[in-house]
Amino acid sequence: MHVRGFINIMTTSVIVLILLSLVHLEAQSIDVIADRFERLENALVKMSEQLNDERLARKHLENQLAEERRRHFQSRQVAEGTEIAFYAHVSQYIPHQGAGQVIRFDQVITSIDSTNSAAGYSAVTGIFTAPVDGLYVFSTTLMTHEDHAAHYMIYKENTAVCTLLVNGSNGHQYDSASCNVVLVLTKGQSVSVRHFESIDHALEGAYYGGQSTFSGFLLMQHYPASPILG
Ligand SMILES: *[C@@H]1O[C@H](CO)[C@@H](O)[C@H](O)[C@H]1NC(C)=O
Repeated sequence: MHVRGFINIMTTSVIVLILLSLVHLEAQSIDVIADRFERLENALVKMSEQLNDERLARKHLENQLAEERRRHFQSRQVAEGTEIAFYAHVSQYIPHQGAGQVIRFDQVITSIDSTNSAAGYSAVTGIFTAPVDGLYVFSTTLMTHEDHAAHYMIYKENTAVCTLLVNGSNGHQYDSASCNVVLVLTKGQSVSVRHFESIDHALEGAYYGGQSTFSGFLLMQHYPASPILG
């Protein structure tokens, strides 16, 4: 009876001890799990913060790219929208020309300046003034009056950039020649056709359309280098 009671007590104690240690172990492992969980949670918060930073950085880059595209498109629109062109010819025979005289192509057939500036081609002076910076193309064809031999130049500002000779003397009669130039002009620079010699010379006028002509147009507008932002 005593022995049995003792064994019972021992057994119960052992079981209780085992249970206690199990509970302890469990408590310990719960602590460990809680700790790990917390660390994981922190890591997760950190990661999502990083992710958010990266998302913001990407968004910023995307905005920059969109802005670049917009600017590029806009400048193209402006360039393609700028229309500058003229074509004029001499309507009446010009009997006398002095040295350096600007030829006045008084009959204007085409005159376009989409910038609506006061520049462009003037039939009064015969001078073209660049309304915008850009690459321009000009052309002149001149017909000399019979028996005259003369040089004419296309001038950029006060510099001759092209010379043509029309030689109507000694049986050539009505000779004609032409000049074509491609010029980079800044806004306000002028282009004109001028007579060269100090000897008096004459130019032909129109004969069913122009015989002495002057034309020009903007091939490509130039823009100042845009400042780098950011
Ligand atoms: C024009 O042509 C004639 C005949 O060919 C020549 O004698 C004369 O020198 C020429 N004039 C000029 C300015 O070249």
